[in-house]
Amino acid sequence: PHGRTQDTRGRVLRDLRISVTDRCNFRCTYCMPKEVFDQNYPYLAHQELLSFEEITRLTSIFSSLGVEKIRLTGGEPLLRKNLEILIEMLAKIHTTVGKPLDLTLTTNGSILRKKAAALKAAGLQRLTVSLDGLNNDVFKKMNDVDFPVEDVLDGIAAAQEVGFANIKVNMVVKKGTNDHEIIAMAKHFKGSGIILRFIEFMDVGSSNGWNMEQVLPSKEVIAQINAVFPLEPIDANYTGEVAQRWRYLDGSGEVGLISSVTQAFCHECTRARISTDGQLYLCLFANEGFDFKSLLRSGGSDLEIANAIMNTWAQRNDHYSEIRGSQTANPTSSSRKVEMSYIGG
Ligand code: GTP
Ligand code: 5AD
Ligand code: SF4
Ligand code: SF4
Repeated sequence: PHGRTQDTRGRVLRDLRISVTDRCNFRCTYCMPKEVFDQNYPYLAHQELLSFEEITRLTSIFSSLGVEKIRLTGGEPLLRKNLEILIEMLAKIHTTVGKPLDLTLTTNGSILRKKAAALKAAGLQRLTVSLDGLNNDVFKKMNDVDFPVEDVLDGIAAAQEVGFANIKVNMVVKKGTNDHEIIAMAKHFKGSGIILRFIEFMDVGSSNGWNMEQVLPSKEVIAQINAVFPLEPIDANYTGEVAQRWRYLDGSGEVGLISSVTQAFCHECTRARISTDGQLYLCLFANEGFDFKSLLRSGGSDLEIANAIMNTWAQRNDHYSEIRGSQTANPTSSSRKVEMSYIGG
């Protein structure tokens, strides 16, 4: 009965995103701008992070409540020491219908060459790599640490070599910065078996200087690609899929569009998030979480934790993307949101 608990908008809990570190070796301007995430930034201390045992225990409880999909994020998840051990632990957990969890990870690809084989061996099923352009000047402008495109492409190649089949690439589109890379990216990944997805630049966190002028609506992305490589829309793989799918008419694959700004998908949002230090957030744009680390560390039983999760879910009313207003560009202290690197992309 637990697994069917609906929130105040009739949505059930199906996906859990877990941030395993709040650190990253990139400083993408839309996520961890250099000026804010500098040497003085108060990153979490090691003892504040959930341990692998704690993450595994929470994941088991969530899966008993109907969660089917786990995404490890960050920050950069591959920077968490021995991450493959956590993956091995999570790979043993099953859903309520006895299937293994859909276990996946979002990475910037920078150390993927080194990690791909271990991730695969540990039981990771899928992989999403962020890449915001193919031209090095553009890509470096986005990652802001001079990281070269070649190394990310090599990481993706390594993942393919070790046998990852369902690889996706995420490109955040910032109008005026990397939107002229859309066609080059489409061309590069067309026919590769990799699904490229374009994400509208969002007002996550409170430090990325978001404004609507820098958002290129997905409709325009589609129009641009369609003019060169004709496309048609196709059905979602499952209800609540975040990306809208379009296939190339010549049969060379598909692209996805994630349009949280111009076409909000809150009405079917089945996601919960666990921050690096064990706070439960029920929306990417929340300004506060629910403290599950204390409950874990004060001897709460599995049943108590499960009940707490479902009571929290039952009261959930989040629908930020449907009501986003102009105030988001200039957050006041009361409208400050947590950073995406902490809550997990
Ligand atoms: P698949 O399982 O491969 O379909 O993954 P996914 O659609 O969950 O994709 P992924 O986790 O890679 O998410 C892609 C991006 O979509 C994220 O990095 C976010 O930018 C955005 N996104 C994901 N979930 C949400 C959400 O609940 N709200 C909003 N506003 N954006 C989201
Ligand atoms: N807008 C849109 N997507 C973002 N991401 C991070 N910050 C933003 C933002 N402001 C996405 C990137 C990255 C993932 C971890 O989160 O796609 O791939
Ligand atoms: Fe790091 Fe990913 Fe954020 Fe870029 S988007 S700073 S790679 S966590
Ligand atoms: Fe879900 Fe919040 Fe994103 Fe809406 S804005 S889809 S409620 S996470």
